Amino acid sequence: MATYAYETHEYDVVVVGAGGAGLRATLGMAEQGLRTACVTKVFPTRSHTVAAQGGIAASLSNMGPDNWQWHMYDTVKGSDWLGDTDAMEYLVREAPKAVYELEHYGVPFSRTEEGKIYQRPFGGHTTEFGEGPPVQRTCAAADRTGHAILHTLYGQSLKNNAEFFIEYFALDLIMTDGRCTGVVAWKLDDGTMHVFNAKMVVLATGGYGRAYFSATSAHTCTGDGGGMVARAGLPLQDMEFVQFHPTGIYGSGCLITEGARGEGGYLTNSEGERFMERYAPTYKDLASRDVVSRCMTMEIREGRGVGEHKDHIFLHLNHLPPETLHERLPGISESARIFAGVDLNKEPIPVLPTVHYNMGGIPTNYWGEVLNPTPGNPDAIFPGLMAVGEAGCASVHGANRLGSNSLIDLVVFGRAAAIKAAEIVDPKARPMPVDKTAVDAIFNRFDTLRYASGSLPTAELRLEMQKTMQSDAAVFRTDKTLAEGVEKMTAVAGKMSDIKVTDRSLVWNSDLMETLELTNLMPNALATIVAAEARKESRGAHAHEDYPDRDDINWRVHSLAHVEGTKVTLSSRPVHLDPLTPMDQGGIDLKKIAPKARVY
Ligand code: FUM
Repeated sequence: MATYAYETHEYDVVVVGAGGAGLRATLGMAEQGLRTACVTKVFPTRSHTVAAQGGIAASLSNMGPDNWQWHMYDTVKGSDWLGDTDAMEYLVREAPKAVYELEHYGVPFSRTEEGKIYQRPFGGHTTEFGEGPPVQRTCAAADRTGHAILHTLYGQSLKNNAEFFIEYFALDLIMTDGRCTGVVAWKLDDGTMHVFNAKMVVLATGGYGRAYFSATSAHTCTGDGGGMVARAGLPLQDMEFVQFHPTGIYGSGCLITEGARGEGGYLTNSEGERFMERYAPTYKDLASRDVVSRCMTMEIREGRGVGEHKDHIFLHLNHLPPETLHERLPGISESARIFAGVDLNKEPIPVLPTVHYNMGGIPTNYWGEVLNPTPGNPDAIFPGLMAVGEAGCASVHGANRLGSNSLIDLVVFGRAAAIKAAEIVDPKARPMPVDKTAVDAIFNRFDTLRYASGSLPTAELRLEMQKTMQSDAAVFRTDKTLAEGVEKMTAVAGKMSDIKVTDRSLVWNSDLMETLELTNLMPNALATIVAAEARKESRGAHAHEDYPDRDDINWRVHSLAHVEGTKVTLSSRPVHLDPLTPMDQGGIDLKKIAPKARVY
């Protein structure tokens, strides 16, 4: 049994991850007087939220009529009726408050002439329960909204005395007698080990976009929270639902915000046709993302792609006034120039649907408390552990997330976790003593990987996983591709035992860190393909060509995946159909959000 010397830290709350959700949770906990540490593998303002461009959804009505009920309808429809009704209601009702809080914290939102927060249209956001014109609901700081939010939340967290442990890599959760009691982390710059003993651990580690070959996600998006949870024997939920953003730059995958279409951009095929008018006559280029990505893929498959290989689509912004591009979309003007060599005042941008977001993740209730469903209690809470942001699955996005509902998810549920923690964490209570056996088991696993002397370099195995996921868990899926994908991914995951780590040092060892990240990506990827193979219907981002229709009778359920090595065991839990507020007490009319055909 290998062991390492370590330093012990005691906190009321330890948040792992410093993106939008992690920082909002950290700030909220610290504001309420809880001793809070934030442990993060990258500098907070380099977290992937920094790349969020277009904005944050909230029904402020600054640009025209809007209300939370319309936002809820759009979110329910966007989720293809897989989201939990109570969580979706909480999200959209709390959204305006959460945005005004951000404004008061200092987020430099773009402004209207009257000085109100500027809001732009985004895909799938409508008026009149999907019967009226598109709504301007997405609050924006030009096309750098995530950047603005991260900087503000980091500054506010420091002001409220949250303590940051930066460039610390979380190895695993400490599980003691059926509850989470902390986390063990490796300090990357000096190789020291740290045990964070805490009354509450909050996972805010982001998504696992890097399980795929081409993603808008940063290289740091390696599903670390999901990996830790899977190793702890807890389930992952709805992993088959992976969002492809319609407009990743062809070749690099770099994001071009949906805000580009919100500001008037449109897509064309090789015939110069605005093909979205054919598929989504009402909302056209502003249909929901899964719909637009599928239409683009169909155009390419039917030979109407653009470019030498007819394998991508054009996004036009060149008809927009240069002042609009300069004022509203300065960031993507630069991205288009750098990553596509395009001056978007003059030429269209070559784009392709690109992996962007994981709807699935660690199951939670709308307070962020992690669930460990049992047959008798599908909402059983696992004590001492919360998950927020893309790492978690509350579930408000169901089978497909609407653009700009992600940033609002981060801040609403980061804030909710802090409200709940203030209720259940007693700052006066002593934390449980460090569970040395559990800590040693974590070091043992770390040491095994550190000295792994198989034949496969980490980068090689990672590439094999990414290529498999890219080809077999794609925009369109079939029984054949999914069955092949399960077989290939099971074999790929099995090769972890033959991994080769060449650098044994503890200081700035990217070889070892990338290997640890791969051990996190792997259970996420495996759960995704196995759950996708099992789901015999089409819903949201899961477009199954052998089962083209949604099947609410058999499949309006959340999938759960327990991953152990190469083995995935699937089960399910019911979707929450009840709202938070009954209609006679000011809640939504459930008839308005009843399942129906999803057309845009
Ligand atoms: O297109 C975008 O700006 C992305 C936003 C989102 O994923 O919410």
